[in-house]
Amino acid sequence: MLKARSSGNAIADRRFAYAMDYKAGGDPLSAAELVMQALDEAPDWAAGWLALGDLNETLGRRGEAIDTYRKALHLDPDDEAGAGARLARLGEIPADGAMTPAHITALFDEYAPRFERSLVDNLSYRGPALLRMALERSGRDGPFERVLDLGCGTGLVAETFRSICRDIVGVDLSAAMLAKARAKQIYRHLEQAEIGDFLLRQDAGSVDLILAADVFIYFGDLDAVFRQAARVLAPGGRFAFTVQSQDGPAAFILNHDLRYAHSRQGIEGWAVAAGLQLRHLDDAWARTDRGAPVPGLVAVLGR
Ligand SMILES: C[S@@+](CC[C@H](N)C(=O)[O-])C[C@H]1O[C@@H](n2cnc3c(N)ncnc32)[C@H](O)[C@@H]1O
Repeated sequence: MLKARSSGNAIADRRFAYAMDYKAGGDPLSAAELVMQALDEAPDWAAGWLALGDLNETLGRRGEAIDTYRKALHLDPDDEAGAGARLARLGEIPADGAMTPAHITALFDEYAPRFERSLVDNLSYRGPALLRMALERSGRDGPFERVLDLGCGTGLVAETFRSICRDIVGVDLSAAMLAKARAKQIYRHLEQAEIGDFLLRQDAGSVDLILAADVFIYFGDLDAVFRQAARVLAPGGRFAFTVQSQDGPAAFILNHDLRYAHSRQGIEGWAVAAGLQLRHLDDAWARTDRGAPVPGLVAVLGR
């Protein structure tokens, strides 16, 4: 769970709680002052510095925001709180790799209890259904014997694919998300691991289908993942995934919402470099944000 929840100092926690009330009430200036008072009491509290950075950004104090995020990163080198992604968004460090495994784990351990309600009910999430449709359109809709679900989360993909897949293995960083997936009793095996590390441990040609729904929004450069997917897939295998999209010249960017967005050309380039054939690539939104569809792509690559 997020270590950040408490500073470990009761006075600091109380001031911080007042600060968040001011922030919610639309007064970021008073909120920032109260967070600074909290940090006087608990100067080593990384999440407090991160919150001050966010308030500084809201107040248009770019320089102060950068300093406070750097302070948070210094105090929390694994970056559970997410200072690196914010520094990358401000152009201070490279975007690739700015989202650390520690941050993603903390984010989803925290989010797990309300993930499905929030994503499916409130944000009209349809990533798994998009993958099934795209596979159908690519000319191969199963059955699939050996399947990997990358970033499986609570198991929504396996629920959608169970009727056409025999043996599904899920991998995810977050223990709390994996616990929800385990309760569904669909996966043969679930593993808490980072996707890149996990793929490296899989045998060559050992898998018929790789799925990744709404996961590459936490990856910038996809070159290594595509190469590993190509190695792990058996001949004739498929690799289906969704991304958030952008039309700029870069293969990927870190969006303001702290999610990566990829371009068509980027996906095509990584596919060619990995020796995978493009079977399907289409515009498709996987979820909404404040009522509007978030631009995305759904892709199926073949080996
Ligand atoms: C938005 S959720 C999507 C979950 C699921 N695929 C679905 O469609 O419902 C993203 C999931 O990917 C996991 N994740 C993100 N980056 C990861 C990485 N590098 N390695 C393993 N899991 C990762 C997160 O922990 C989270 O559970």
